[in-house]
Amino acid sequence: MTDALIAKFRAIHARAPEIIARAPGRIEFIGNHTDYNGGSVLGAAIDRSAWVGLARRSDGRRRFASDTHSDVVEPQAGAFDRLTGSHSWVNYPLGILVAMRDSGLKIPAGFDYLAVSNVPLGAGLSSSAAIELSSCMAFLEAAGETISREALVALGKRAENEFVGVPCGILDQGVSGFGRKDHLVYIDCRGPRFKTVPLPAGPSFWVFNTHSKHALVDGLYAARHSECMEAARVIGVPLLVDASPAMLAAAEGRLSRPAYKRARHVIDEIARVEQAVEALGAGDLAAVGKLLFASHRSSRTWFENTSPELDFLVDSLESEKGVYGARLTGGGFGGAAMALASDAFGEKGAGRIADAYLEKFGARPDVLHARAEDGASLVT
Ligand code: GLA
Repeated sequence: MTDALIAKFRAIHARAPEIIARAPGRIEFIGNHTDYNGGSVLGAAIDRSAWVGLARRSDGRRRFASDTHSDVVEPQAGAFDRLTGSHSWVNYPLGILVAMRDSGLKIPAGFDYLAVSNVPLGAGLSSSAAIELSSCMAFLEAAGETISREALVALGKRAENEFVGVPCGILDQGVSGFGRKDHLVYIDCRGPRFKTVPLPAGPSFWVFNTHSKHALVDGLYAARHSECMEAARVIGVPLLVDASPAMLAAAEGRLSRPAYKRARHVIDEIARVEQAVEALGAGDLAAVGKLLFASHRSSRTWFENTSPELDFLVDSLESEKGVYGARLTGGGFGGAAMALASDAFGEKGAGRIADAYLEKFGARPDVLHARAEDGASLVT
């Protein structure tokens, strides 16, 4: 991919990039909507990434190009206004520059920029976090700034929350930043604190993108967020991570039905993340898999963020040999499901699932086979 990036960079900017940075997409392994509730979550950086090439300019011009849009976008020198329409992808690197500047870091004044990516867009694999973190690493290098990985992740999240305008938690940027080959990333989201947990050798991930997305997905995410905060307030805790099942039961009569249901999911889900860490430590993949299925059922029953397509995929995967577990991955309301499976499942099993889905819904899901990879890094 680096060679392709350099060739494309030369074709567009008529010179070679000075800096190349890479950051991966991610799978949410378990811990659904736990991050902004202060809980824990497990994710995996995957072997699909965004690469950013950068070369400084002394004239202050900032020329943004990507492999998905044909035109070079050049915001007015010194301007940091949000862009719209087909230029809105530039809000990711622009948001990073704003977050760096507002954090007191130096930023490069002018540059030629190119982003290329093989993280599928709109598949719930955080292609946006991949662009944010690879851009951030390249800009930091160009400005001669050195910061911690925690700070890198925080800049990515800040760009997403404040500039792009998506009120996500720390999961996406945290996993893209702290990923490690053959490991899961565990995030204690209140810190936030990050560590890696080894994946037992053998299994890999399969992702099925349904391409069905609820039209109101952003609004639904925000609504779930506020129902969770309402539940915490009524229970009398700062965040749902501070509530026990007994506290929830005691508050049930005072909670609106939606707030109760969301809290029920989040509190149980945080417990499942901890159980999954234990089961992984014991190498008990069957137990890990059961937790993945339980997570999906809880999303379906309590958080109500699955879809008929996702439920069909997870139900079908449950009866496949070699599948340890499966669940929706990411925000939900459509999007993608993922499975943890041994080689006994493989291309054949994935093909069977895709065929059954085609039969039922009249369209084939995209199928992606992925392994856990290293997080964001400078390539040159
Ligand atoms: C989206 C958000 C994450 C997280 C998940 C749900 O992917 O970007 O921060 O909240 O939804 O777990």
